[in-house]
Amino acid sequence: MTNTEQALAKTSSLSLGDRWFAFRNRMLRSPRFQRWAAAFWLTRPIARRRASALFDLCAGFVYAQVLYACVRLRVFDAIADEPRSVSDLAHSMDLSLDATRRLLDAAVSIRLVERRGVDHYGLGVHGASLLGNPSVARMIEHHEMLYRDLTDPVALLRGEVAETATSSFWRYDRDTSDDDVAGYSRLMASSQELIAADILEAYAFEGHRRLLDIGGGEGAFVGAVARAAPDLELALFDLPSVAARARVRLAERGLGTRVEAHGGDVFTDPLPHGADLVSLVRVVHDHDDDDALAILGAARRALSAGGTLLVAEPMSSTPGAEAMGDAYFGMYLLAMGRGRPRTARHLEDLCRRAGFRAMREVPTRRPMLARMLVATAE
Ligand SMILES: C[S@@+](CC[C@H](N)C(=O)[O-])C[C@H]1O[C@@H](n2cnc3c(N)ncnc32)[C@H](O)[C@@H]1O
Repeated sequence: MTNTEQALAKTSSLSLGDRWFAFRNRMLRSPRFQRWAAAFWLTRPIARRRASALFDLCAGFVYAQVLYACVRLRVFDAIADEPRSVSDLAHSMDLSLDATRRLLDAAVSIRLVERRGVDHYGLGVHGASLLGNPSVARMIEHHEMLYRDLTDPVALLRGEVAETATSSFWRYDRDTSDDDVAGYSRLMASSQELIAADILEAYAFEGHRRLLDIGGGEGAFVGAVARAAPDLELALFDLPSVAARARVRLAERGLGTRVEAHGGDVFTDPLPHGADLVSLVRVVHDHDDDDALAILGAARRALSAGGTLLVAEPMSSTPGAEAMGDAYFGMYLLAMGRGRPRTARHLEDLCRRAGFRAMREVPTRRPMLARMLVATAE
């Protein structure tokens, strides 16, 4: 049998759709087809785009390291107001001239930085966007521990890594001290502004009387809601050491008497009653299904029938942000040791099992950051 006959025999038992994919993949694998597609005028642009996308996948981790080095060396801050010379930048970054040029040229190639005149560099489009979102730079620096945990992704997937840096960072434990939670609480608070803005734009809080934000961190979300809905009563619930931080932060913002911050463990302690709206912002995806169900169950018990649940977080299979949900959060949460990005359908199913009905997705401006599901307590 020739190779083609063998391949045809193998695919004859497949469905029509799978046979088409088998044919397509045979073509894409074939060096002869690749050479032809790269040469033929009609397929040439597609072939180039595909080759470039594949190369980006291979080299993506290096791009991320270039970004990481720029953030750590404060390159974007240094050129925020005006372009600067290589020797100037070399001095401020404490690098040799050659290393500075190498880093800046790498940064130019991924549009973080731009060449401006002889031996001068200014902000590129991505560098400028990053400067406008300081929480992203904090996340990039935080990735240092994720790089370590993903050194051997196969070992991580096989469960052969005893303790990861990321899981030690995210210690969700009733007995944690302020030192244990300060790192993640600060990181979450710094990125909450973007999420809160999108949620506030998508959902009318004014129709409610009292909001309880479970896993509310330092209170950045309730703080944003407080400004938008001046008549809403507000409470948050988080681990005791995190709730203590929230009390301090909220008092600093003049919200010490407006927001009640309750400390406890959502798995073992009762939640405060009286809210007609409970929110879970970037909380459920941190937990495996059994724990996620327990949290949703606690949210249900905190509400009376007819009360509203609002879940907001990045989700799996988000159109246009598939890689963010399934590759980034999928692997991040693996390194964290628990949780998964879920499809909206999967979350709806958990909500139903926890005693909610009438689940509906409310569109948000940047679904990559957070999608939103609203449900009614049965
Ligand atoms: C990923 S953070 C999200 C914080 C905040 N909602 C936000 O979006 O910025 C998850 C929060 O859940 C809290 N948390 C985790 N386990 C908890 C538990 N068992 N009981 C109460 N809170 C918990 C954490 O302390 C943390 O503040």
